[in-house]
Amino acid sequence: METIRYIDAACYHAAPFFMHHLEEEIPEPYRRDGELLTVLGETRKAYWVRNIWKKPFIAEFDSINDAAKILRAIQRNWAVYPFRLARRASLIAKALPRLPSKPKVFPFELPDNPMGAYTLLDENHLMASAICSSPWPNGELVFEEDREEAPSRAYRKLWEAFLLAGSMPQPGEHCLDAGASPGGWSWALARLGARVTAIDRAELDSRIAALPQISFIKHNAFSMDPKELGPVDWLFSDIICYPPKLYEWVCKWLESGLCKNFICTIKMQGNSWDKETVQRFAEIPGSKIEHLWHNKHELSWVLVQN
Ligand SMILES: C[S@@+](CC[C@H](N)C(=O)[O-])C[C@H]1O[C@@H](n2cnc3c(N)ncnc32)[C@H](O)[C@@H]1O
Repeated sequence: METIRYIDAACYHAAPFFMHHLEEEIPEPYRRDGELLTVLGETRKAYWVRNIWKKPFIAEFDSINDAAKILRAIQRNWAVYPFRLARRASLIAKALPRLPSKPKVFPFELPDNPMGAYTLLDENHLMASAICSSPWPNGELVFEEDREEAPSRAYRKLWEAFLLAGSMPQPGEHCLDAGASPGGWSWALARLGARVTAIDRAELDSRIAALPQISFIKHNAFSMDPKELGPVDWLFSDIICYPPKLYEWVCKWLESGLCKNFICTIKMQGNSWDKETVQRFAEIPGSKIEHLWHNKHELSWVLVQN
């Protein structure tokens, strides 16, 4: 006889390599299953996650097929987090409908079918959530990449941010790409048909600099005023800098009213992260901050108002 018991909690699955940051955000979890921290009460904001399980339940089952039947009765898509009893957990995965595994060709529509997640607690109990924060299995998103033309792989986080924002530059829109070199983001923006002004202290890759939609300014972006550069439809920054420096520059842009749409990487220094500045960014009305699958030791701040 199968039983399902919902728990009034949320489970926070740490972003790879950043469990120590998540532990700072959630110091006293109710339970800990590998890199999955369960906290009682309503879902709260945590940045250093790959996925949040928003409505977790525990189910008792007799056999692998029984476990698959319980999950399948709720919805189609389930990603396994194989922390305990990994073989049994993956046999359950095999008894469930297969998840799409092909790299995604950008751009594409977000899937309609929700993506759930589960893990085994012991031989006969699983913990799962049908509702998760990420539409990708365990937060993992793999794009089909262009390894020939793109001068760096950084454009993958820009693509992911566009999917998160549900918006991207349209043909003919003017984009400012600050900290652009070698030019991965500028390349991705030009492919969308946007006009790009790229700024960096270092040179762009020569193939990117030669693209007709791209003009390049070799300069310290922070010493350039919005009035010198704007108006623009989108401002992008992937500059490696202290977060307060970026915040100060973004505030100048917001005050100027010369740009409405922003995607900026907040890069962390050393082994810690700048909670104060992240909080300041988070307080900018209408904006959101995420650790994207393609982010490293950094968070992406997104404000889209078009
Ligand atoms: C992570 S890289 C950017 C990668 C780029 N988004 C891409 O897709 O290829 C960071 C860049 O920030 C630039 N940078 C650092 N400080 C800067 C500043 N004050 N003004 C402009 N560029 C800066 C560096 O020269 C470097 O090229």
